Amino acid sequence: MNPAIQYVRDNRKRHLDQLTELLRIPSISTDPEKKKAIGQAADWVSSRLKEAGCTKVKIHKTAGHPIVYGEWLGAPGKPTLLVYGHYDVQPVDPLELWHTPPFEPTLRDEKLYARGASDDKGQVIIHVNALEAHLQTTGSCPVNLKFVIEGEEEIGSPHLDPFIGENSKMLACDAVVVSDTAMFAKGVPSICYGLRGLAYLQIDLTGTDSDLHSGTFGGAVVNPANALVAMLASLKDANGKIKIPGFYDNVRKLKAKERKAFASLPHSDSRYKKALGAPALFGEKGYTTLERTYARPSLDINGIWSGFTGEGAKTVIPAKAHAKISMRLVPDQTAKEIARKVKKHLKAIAPKSVKIEVTPLHGGEAWLADTDHPALAAAGRAMKGAFGRKPVFVREGGSIPVVGTFADVLKVPCVLLGVGLNEDNIHAPNEKMDLDQFYRGNEAAVLLFEEMGAGTPGGKKKKK
Ligand code: BES
Ligand code: ZN
Repeated sequence: MNPAIQYVRDNRKRHLDQLTELLRIPSISTDPEKKKAIGQAADWVSSRLKEAGCTKVKIHKTAGHPIVYGEWLGAPGKPTLLVYGHYDVQPVDPLELWHTPPFEPTLRDEKLYARGASDDKGQVIIHVNALEAHLQTTGSCPVNLKFVIEGEEEIGSPHLDPFIGENSKMLACDAVVVSDTAMFAKGVPSICYGLRGLAYLQIDLTGTDSDLHSGTFGGAVVNPANALVAMLASLKDANGKIKIPGFYDNVRKLKAKERKAFASLPHSDSRYKKALGAPALFGEKGYTTLERTYARPSLDINGIWSGFTGEGAKTVIPAKAHAKISMRLVPDQTAKEIARKVKKHLKAIAPKSVKIEVTPLHGGEAWLADTDHPALAAAGRAMKGAFGRKPVFVREGGSIPVVGTFADVLKVPCVLLGVGLNEDNIHAPNEKMDLDQFYRGNEAAVLLFEEMGAGTPGGKKKKK
């Protein structure tokens, strides 16, 4: 038995207890009231990196939340792997839908329930456990490691690009690995080679100086809530096509080969629909479900509020109406271009009777990798070793803004070795991590370091 694998098996309980500790910290990056928790999470990660064997660990302050850096560079001549992940989490509302409190991690049915269990605390930690396993069993690690664990991923990583730009020497590596995605399905390991980008906007409409009695004034002025819903409804047609001028201008067409590959994945619309509890699926006509989520842009209202939403009835014309909307993007759209086009269009269609403000909140670029790189093959062997089956190649609909930056600035391949599951409820109530996925994830990381270590710096496999 591989001693490092044996080590992670022997230490399952301790690794789970440690993850539980981290999950107790409510590090919600978008909530200004959680600044203390953010600091605690950064401290926790930093201590754990030291404990696992990193020889240099530093918490880098930014104008926002800190970035934790750790390194173990004790294998000269071996490749260097940069592990990226995030210790921040999404907000927890609606709180009443959680079966147990989001920051009181609870075990049920071999799953650990807590905000961040899968996204991303439970995934990033597998690499720290793997470093520890190698060091504790052999006194060394097959690869050099650099960890970059940030606290602002869920708000678009606003301070990470400058950090990478300023520290590109310190971060030099042969490949980046990120565990912040899902496997295709339980029992179907996957390697992800594409992510969508994102452009996120807030829309604020103002009708009048104050709320009005809807009897006295109903019919005399425009209701900004009515205006907002009409505007939003017009952004898409009945076939799911987005009606914003120029929106599809830079969308890269799906190649027949890729469509064929997606079609061969073990996906069933009826199972998918059932798993979501959706009466029917809906999306852009002419594309399959996987094509739509992997490789076509989308537009969604993420939140909308105005007027009276309390119990009972109140006859009022609200003075203001608001919405948060976001567009998922694909190559070669850019977040800036789409934010500009959507803003221009919203301003053009707003009725003269309201004032409109459109504020871009954050964004990130789409990413698409070359599937032929040896680093991906190494990751594939590691996944097979841990999950018992050769992984399939997939793209994902979610976004990890920094992945494109790593590719552009560090000029190295990025391996997305996700061990989450689509049913983990990330960003939703009752987020969880399947324990079997976590334990196998630890093994996948152990094997990944071995597989990458068998190559030479630069990524080529050593000739035997
Ligand atoms: N882990 C997700 C990204 C993800 C989710 C990738 C599902 C693939 C499948 C990540 O933490 C995340 O949620 N990112 C944000 C980024 C955004 C705020 C710029 C996202 O996708 O909404
Ligand atoms: Zn997330």
